[in-house]
Amino acid sequence: MCVDEADPGEPRHAQPDGTAETLRRVPHPAPRTPHPDSQLVFLALETTCDETAAAVLEGPRPPRAGVPRIRSSVVASQVGLHQRYGGVVPEIAARAHVRQILPMIDEALRRAAVALPDLGAVAVATRPGLVGALVVGLTAAKALALALEVPLVAVDHLEGHLYACQLAYPDREVYPCVGLVVSGGHTSLYLCRSPLESTFLGGTTDDAAGEAFDKVASLLGLGYPGGPAIERAAESGDRTAFALPRSFLHDDRLIFSFSGLKTAVLYALHGQNARGGAIPQDPSLVGDLAASFQEAVVDVLVAKTRQALIRSQLKRLGVGGGVAANSRFRDRIGAMAAELGVELFIPPPALCTDNAAMAGIALPKLCAGQVAELEVDVTAGLIRPARGA
Ligand code: KG4
Ligand code: ZN
Repeated sequence: MCVDEADPGEPRHAQPDGTAETLRRVPHPAPRTPHPDSQLVFLALETTCDETAAAVLEGPRPPRAGVPRIRSSVVASQVGLHQRYGGVVPEIAARAHVRQILPMIDEALRRAAVALPDLGAVAVATRPGLVGALVVGLTAAKALALALEVPLVAVDHLEGHLYACQLAYPDREVYPCVGLVVSGGHTSLYLCRSPLESTFLGGTTDDAAGEAFDKVASLLGLGYPGGPAIERAAESGDRTAFALPRSFLHDDRLIFSFSGLKTAVLYALHGQNARGGAIPQDPSLVGDLAASFQEAVVDVLVAKTRQALIRSQLKRLGVGGGVAANSRFRDRIGAMAAELGVELFIPPPALCTDNAAMAGIALPKLCAGQVAELEVDVTAGLIRPARGA
C-alpha cells in the first residue's frame, strides 16, 4: 500500500495512535471479459487461526447464480506446533501461515489441475480471526488478484462455516434456515435468509463450545486440540457418571454458557474450590468425565437449537464449525431435527473444521457485486448484525 501525502481527496484511515494515514487508492483491475457461458474457476484461502488452507472451486460465472463445486481442498494443520502450549500461539500461527501459504496454493492448483491464469477470482477469509494470521492470507490473495487482474472477494469465516452446508448439499435449497456455528471461538445461532443475509439470534456469554472442549481436554490430560480427544475418550466412558451443569437449559433466552461446566469438571476431578491439580491417571475416570462433559455440551446445543427452530418456525437447519464434526453431536442434532420434521444440513467432518472450500461463499458474493477493494483490511473481531427478536 502506497502512502501519498499529496492527495488530500483520498480516504483517511484512523490509526491506533489517533493520527490519520492518507492512502492512495489502488484502482481495482478491470476484469477481462471471458465467454459468458464459461465456468468461473476461483481460488479460496483460509488463514484465520491455525490451519493454512487453500481450495479451488468452480461454478457458474456471475451474474449466473449457482453453487460452486469443490475441485480441490487442502489444509496444512499447525496442531504439532501449538500442542506443547495447549492452545494456539498467535505469532507461531502467523509465521507458520507465511511458510505454508504458497505451498498450499500450489498444491490446491495441482490437485485441481488448474494453472494460475485459469483463475477468475480470488477469495479469502478476512474476519474474524487472529490478526497476524488473517494478514498472511489476505496479502497472498491481494497479490494474486492484482497480478492476475481478477476480482478479490473478502469473506466472513462464520458465514463460510454455514455456507459449507450448501457446498455439501449442492442440489438442495439450504436457505432460509436456522444456522448454528459451533467452533473454537463461536457458539452462535442465526436466522439465515440467504448466504449473505443473517440475523444473530443468540450466542455464548463466555466460552465457546469448542473452547470448552479444549479446556476440559487439557484438565483431563488429553492434549490439544481437545474436541477429537474428548470424543475418543468418551467412547469408553459412561455419559451418566457425572451430573454436570447445563447452563440456561430451561431459560427462554437463546444464550449459552460453558465456563461453569468447565469448572464443574475441575471440581469433579480435584474437589470443590480446587484451582488445579495433577492430571488424572485413571482411564475410566477420564472416560466417564469426557463422556459426561460431552453429553452436557450436546444437551445444551441441541436444546437451544430446538428452541430457535420452534421460535423461527423454519423447517431447515444448517450447522457448521469444528464441534459439528463430533459424532455424538451429529447423532443427537439429527434426532432432534427428525423429531421436529426439520431438514438438517450438516457437512461431512472435513467441511466442518476449518477449510478454504467454505470461502466458496465468494460465488454468491460475486453475484451480489460484492468485490473487495485492494486496500481492504482484516477484522479480528466479530461483526455482529443486530440481534433479532
Ligand atoms: O471451526 P474450527 O475448526 O476452528 C474455529 O473456527 O475455531 O473449530 C475448532 C474447534 C476446536 O475447539 C476443536 O476442539 C473443536 O472445534 N472440534 C471438536 C471436534 N473436532 C474439532 N469438538 C468436538 N468434537 C470433535 N470431533
Ligand atoms: Zn472455524
